[in-house]
Amino acid sequence: MGCTVIIGSQWGDEGKAKMVDYFTRDTDIVVRYQGGANAGHTVVAGGKKYIFHLIPSGILHKDKICVIGNGVVLDPLQFIEEMELLDKQGIDSENRIIISDCLHLILPYHLAVDSALEEIRTKKIGTTVRGIGPSYSDKCLRIGIRAGDIFEEDVIKARVAGALAMKNRLLKDVFGKPEFTIDEIMAIIHKFKEKAGKLIRNTQNYLHQAISEGKRILLEGAQGYALDIDHGTYPYVTSSNPTIGGALLGTGLNVSNIDEVIGISKAYLTRVGEGPFPTEDGGSDGDRLRVNGGEFGSTTGRPRRCGWFDTELIRQSCKINGFTGIALTKLDVLGGFKKIKVAVGYELKGKRLDMFQTYNLHRVEPVYEELDGWDENISKCKSADDLPSNAKDYLRFIEQCIGVKIKVVSVGPDRENTFIYE
Ligand code: GDP
Ligand code: IMO
Ligand code: MG
Repeated sequence: MGCTVIIGSQWGDEGKAKMVDYFTRDTDIVVRYQGGANAGHTVVAGGKKYIFHLIPSGILHKDKICVIGNGVVLDPLQFIEEMELLDKQGIDSENRIIISDCLHLILPYHLAVDSALEEIRTKKIGTTVRGIGPSYSDKCLRIGIRAGDIFEEDVIKARVAGALAMKNRLLKDVFGKPEFTIDEIMAIIHKFKEKAGKLIRNTQNYLHQAISEGKRILLEGAQGYALDIDHGTYPYVTSSNPTIGGALLGTGLNVSNIDEVIGISKAYLTRVGEGPFPTEDGGSDGDRLRVNGGEFGSTTGRPRRCGWFDTELIRQSCKINGFTGIALTKLDVLGGFKKIKVAVGYELKGKRLDMFQTYNLHRVEPVYEELDGWDENISKCKSADDLPSNAKDYLRFIEQCIGVKIKVVSVGPDRENTFIYE
């Protein structure tokens, strides 16, 4: 029995968490494979809203195991806070969370460097300032601290001292910011060891063992294709690989373990932070999407930039990820628009482009088709047959343009507002 991977197909916030929660019903284990607390993952169940940053979005299902894979960068204080919040909300997570011994920790100096870099950048990225870039950089520079290191007191103390020697110079001499002491960093590490030490283990082996026992695994991506450090709109990207390669790297699973790759696509488009966005609507339609869709970041609260569905972007996303199906979210938000635009390609200086490129994305003009909208409230629809005909036409049009089948449709934030589309 294989694994299913859930990947954001756009610029993040596609509604991945809602779909992870939905698909978790048919799985035994959910694994987050990359990113960190830059993610804001919202699940609405039984009328209650939960936002996760690090803990996999399957946690609300009481009998499921949630793994934080080796590809994630984990802020220990944020993790402890999230565990305590779960506890307060009456969600029993005891013995259901496993942390990879190989994942890298985000420590206060990563957050300080993230913030200082944003301050001095002439062109800002608009990061979430959660220390993501600096932590992945340390991993590549081989000066990172991994979760498993906390069990080797002498080793970790020497490693933290080494990292601090560099970071403090950078913070003080280059950025003019306060330095950190080894004691304050070690205090966080000791707290993490006390609260979460027993959750840390070799997750690669755990997952392979689970597969050999016939268990079903769901791999949960954060961010989305167009924020991928390699395939996205560099440099306006995150510092990890949300795409399919990242799912393998961030778990230790291999190609033969994967049998489904579900792309999560919002029925329109949003982006938080800077960078190109060809179908952005800076006018009243964009404002209306933002208000109707509640498009404010779950991590930073920033208003999300809004615009129209872009089939050119998704076609590229399908190519990179090999989606076997699409889950289309937030179709309800399009209700009430007289006309709905869909980008079917790009033009540059009046000439139709025949290839998707990221380097000229800030200059392209989308070529739109306009479809008729619908006025009905579709949030109670339970099947394709219940949808107004214009909504059905919209789904059919998208499927034709992207060449991948829509398998699930989401028409509201709650678990219940979801149906299989055939
Ligand atoms: P993620 O980062 O991809 O998990 O997405 P976020 O949780 O950051 O943002 C998605 C937002 O849309 C959340 O507030 C969800 O509760 C909400 N949402 C998800 N699916 C739907 C849907 O089909 N309709 C509506 N109206 N809201 C949805
Ligand atoms: P989820 O998992 C939307 C964006 C930031 C910024 C860029 C780099 O909820 O979909 P970073 O802090 O990662 O260095 O920021 O990436 N970004 C997201 N945008 N959803 C996310 O996560 C994001 N995580 C990072 O806004 O533009
Ligand atoms: Mg989000």
